[in-house]
Amino acid sequence: MASSMTQNTPSRLEATYEEDDGFVDIPDGHDPRHASPVVPKLFTEPPPVHEDYSTHTLTVQTKTMNECVRHLAANLDEVDYNHHGVPRLRRAAHIKFLKKQLGTLPAPFLVADASRPWFLFWCLNGLALAGEDTTSYRQQVIVTAKSMQNPTGGFGGGHGQMSHLATTFAVVLALALVGGEEAYEVIDRKSMWRWLCSLKQPDGGVQMVYGGEVDVRGAYCTAVIVGLLNMPRELSPDSPAYTPDGKSTLFTGLAEFVRRCQTFEGGISGRPDAEAHGAYAFCALACLAILDAPHRIIPKYLDVPRLIAWLSSLQYAPEGGFCGRTNKLVDGCYSHWVGGCWPLIDAALNGTSDLDELENESQPTIDSIDWYNREGLIRYILCCAQDESKRGGLRDKPSSSSDAYHSCYVLSGLSTAQYKWGLTYLDDDEMLLAEPKWKVTPRVDDSQIYDKEDRVQAIHPTYTIPDHMFYDMQGYFASKAGF
Ligand code: FPP
Ligand code: ZN
Repeated sequence: MASSMTQNTPSRLEATYEEDDGFVDIPDGHDPRHASPVVPKLFTEPPPVHEDYSTHTLTVQTKTMNECVRHLAANLDEVDYNHHGVPRLRRAAHIKFLKKQLGTLPAPFLVADASRPWFLFWCLNGLALAGEDTTSYRQQVIVTAKSMQNPTGGFGGGHGQMSHLATTFAVVLALALVGGEEAYEVIDRKSMWRWLCSLKQPDGGVQMVYGGEVDVRGAYCTAVIVGLLNMPRELSPDSPAYTPDGKSTLFTGLAEFVRRCQTFEGGISGRPDAEAHGAYAFCALACLAILDAPHRIIPKYLDVPRLIAWLSSLQYAPEGGFCGRTNKLVDGCYSHWVGGCWPLIDAALNGTSDLDELENESQPTIDSIDWYNREGLIRYILCCAQDESKRGGLRDKPSSSSDAYHSCYVLSGLSTAQYKWGLTYLDDDEMLLAEPKWKVTPRVDDSQIYDKEDRVQAIHPTYTIPDHMFYDMQGYFASKAGF
């Protein structure tokens, strides 16, 4: 059985840190790549407790642990390690892989036809996080998005396919990723609003597709679309959730729906009374953090201590990465789904640093708490989740092939691990804001076991695309009231 992680005190080479960026300053004439790497035992030795009976779950867990340890031990011939035993981010190889995934795919991908918007989003987000210019794809994304748009509102998985909240979410974010007025104006906000109103249910939830399932993805996708497009919150009179007093909105009951999805484990399931899963936990937390400031809304609707206990149990040693649900295997994509929960939890408990401090100087902040073992996650990402061959791309685990989905979410998880988020009531000119906004800074601490050049772009903690792309699109639509 894998054990969840505890703080470690790794023995490492003496390192000096630069004042400006905190990265290791390598003395002249010394190339640490030739020194033997020091990998803490936490990441190379099996957990101290193991079961002496055999089940399928234990067998696959042991196999996974062994394949990860082979990659974490820093002795693969084909890989170049730094003195922490960590390989470089293979940025160029991943960019090449993602560009290829944006092109024509071989016949077996036919079954993924309805997921074409997702491929756009995953590839463009991966490229943008890797620092590649995505604006060159603008015209192609515009043409593709238009072909998927339905006059009744929303985007389907392809031409003539029914509008779906997941594919609409993916198209809207793909348009944000290529940016520019022409791309933003592809979206027909009024018909999108009518369509969203038709999905909104009287119990607060939102259907993923007309007549389809109601789940936490629906709550999150609605919050993202309404938030990004500055959509009116009121409901159209033909919405199933419309109330004659006109008081119900697209957001009414959404937080209550999310609350009903917290399970006996403390985690969040897709719908009430189902199994808690990391991907739904992220959707739930990010949805709440869009509806209102995280420190107000998250503790109001969720039992945060129990959620933290469950999230913590999802990180494994020696693998270092996260799994998605109890007793399942570590997987690179949870670097985002679970890793991305931590900045939201942190903000929920810390509130806003500046104004709260001014108002209540005695209020202690819990700023110094590391909610998970960041070093472990970074080791998993760089040692286990990168394809080390010519193919490039990022993957679930060493025995899996890289793909667009994992490339996007492993890079998103890396971004979460490399930056630090807080909430502030001060804008860039130090003016007081009515509502707090996120501020992000590069993280400078002991978890910087990766090379200086291997930082990716900062992701927005709730909208999951690079920060500036979110602000550009939101700023554009913020100037539009009504339609
Ligand atoms: C199980 O996969 C996966 C789920 C139950 C959740 C999937 C949900 C998402 C990825 C969220 C989608 C988000 C939006 C915004 C639409 P599995 O059984 O293959 O994997 P596991 O063994 O790791 O649980
Ligand atoms: Zn995965």
